[in-house]
Amino acid sequence: MRIQALLILVALLAPPLSPARAADDAEVKRGGYLAIASDCTACHTAPGGQPMAGGLRMASPLGTIVSTNISPSQEHGIGRYSFAQFDRAVRHGIRGDGARLYPAMPYTAYAKLTDQDMLALYAYFMTAVRPVETSPEHTRLPFPFNMRLSMAGWNILFLDSGTFVSDPKHTSEWNRGAYLVQGAAHCGSCHTPRGFLMQEKSGQPMAGSALGGWFAPNITSDAISGIGGWSVEELTTYLRTGHAPGKAQAAGPMAEAIDASLRHMNEADLRAIAVYLKSVAPVRNSADSRPAFAWGTAGDDLPSIRGVGLPGNLDEMTGPQLYDAHCASCHQSQGQGSFDGALPSLFHNAALGRSRADNLVMVILNGLRRHPDVNMPAFGHALSDIQLATLSNYLTSKWGNPQTQITAKEIGTLRAGGAPSPLLLLARGGMLLIAILLIVALVWWQYRRLSKRQPQAIDPAHTPGE
Ligand code: HEC
Ligand code: HEC
Ligand code: HEC
Repeated sequence: MRIQALLILVALLAPPLSPARAADDAEVKRGGYLAIASDCTACHTAPGGQPMAGGLRMASPLGTIVSTNISPSQEHGIGRYSFAQFDRAVRHGIRGDGARLYPAMPYTAYAKLTDQDMLALYAYFMTAVRPVETSPEHTRLPFPFNMRLSMAGWNILFLDSGTFVSDPKHTSEWNRGAYLVQGAAHCGSCHTPRGFLMQEKSGQPMAGSALGGWFAPNITSDAISGIGGWSVEELTTYLRTGHAPGKAQAAGPMAEAIDASLRHMNEADLRAIAVYLKSVAPVRNSADSRPAFAWGTAGDDLPSIRGVGLPGNLDEMTGPQLYDAHCASCHQSQGQGSFDGALPSLFHNAALGRSRADNLVMVILNGLRRHPDVNMPAFGHALSDIQLATLSNYLTSKWGNPQTQITAKEIGTLRAGGAPSPLLLLARGGMLLIAILLIVALVWWQYRRLSKRQPQAIDPAHTPGE
């Protein structure tokens, strides 16, 4: 009898204890998954460095921004951050000491995260990340951008600090996709065009944007300029593997996003992302006449170079000569790649079919290294800007979009990391005063606009034309 009573007592006591414990573990695990989906490690880890210890140098049009240590170190990291401070940093761009963060930290996207997910992220960072006792170098941007307070004005203009509101008109899959794309996975921070003050243009989500040399293409649902011609399955496969056979493969920043983040996400989430993308309001670029993946057929120009000696000045090499010397060993004489798909064909390949050659040139300059063993060498040292222009123009006219041409001068700009921000030129050109006046005018304009606007649910994809 006594034992029975004891057992009953244990049974009565146990439930409130164990489920609470289990919920904690589950929360930390969910936080870990969110950290992967949000790709915190990618930016907060230096090449070869300790996870979350910061120190990654990010080139921005305004100068180099260095990520900080967000491991739970008391002294060097965020170990002393309360939940409220953590939340202010991640969703509002305000550091523990009150200073403003630069939007290189994608808090404008993370602002969409729900309170519940923020709690899970915090639990993960405080309990499951190993503290690292080092401080990375400080960010030093040129005047006037070294004044972090200037970001306060920027935030008034551009930080839409409402969390995600699901749209009952859509399925739960679509809503999950929208939440991930707009929030954690911050696709727009690369794919949405930016305005004069580096803000994402809220009226054209996912319409394509330059990223220091690379170009994150239009991934709206448009059938010609965007991914309208991709199936949900193709998109899901691309997000998981970086390959959509006969369409595109990921290089540069997209390859990094896939390797560090997307390929670790579960299939249902990737599918939800694809389903949502297919509904993003189409944006057509008038320069595009067919989908980027739909150009070209196999073919070669080998007869034109057979028995012809190389010119004394290698800058005078022809496109077929350059292709034969550097690329044909892998991509094959007719541009057909390998049958098993490990080496892509160069026709029916978005890299050659877009109406700008940026990514084609960037991949030739920098090569392509991805796990597990996808590897293309870099040709930045081997080829001059003139040779690169000849080769790129040959490739697009032979197997891609023949209207896409690039000059040696433009290649020089890509090699140097892309076009500098007009904002920096303006500020540097002694026209700071004009910039400030402009910001004041914009704040005023935004204020007037906001005060006129009716309150509404936040759903950028469905409120175009801002
Ligand atoms: C695209 C790159 C990028 C991603 C992704 C990113 N961060 Fe950051 N983060 C930065 C940079 C850069 C800074 C420093 C900005 C500055 O100095 O103004 C920063 C600063 C911070 C800070 C302020 C720390 C301090 O005390 O200085 C916190 C907290 C933070 N990030 C947390 C996170 C979390 C959590 C995630 C994932 C949910 C994340 N970050 C994802 C780039 C990134
Ligand atoms: C760090 C920047 C970055 C982030 C974040 C990012 N992308 Fe990309 N994305 C790119 C770049 C750059 C390319 C072009 C890659 C290439 O040409 O090889 C690209 C290519 C793509 C393509 C192929 C389009 C085509 O026509 O070839 C799709 C689809 C895509 N991204 C979807 C997404 C989705 C969905 C997300 C969010 C889950 C995302 N991207 C996040 C930079 C990014
Ligand atoms: C050693 C083999 C090798 C050589 C040489 C080589 N490539 Fe590649 N190339 C690859 C591999 C591997 C990929 C990546 C395929 C993938 O992601 O699955 C690739 C991808 C590409 C892509 C697609 C990139 C994208 O962003 O979508 C282009 C374009 C390309 N190569 C052009 C060239 C050109 C031009 C040359 C000559 C200057 C060249 N390659 C030389 C192996 C090679």
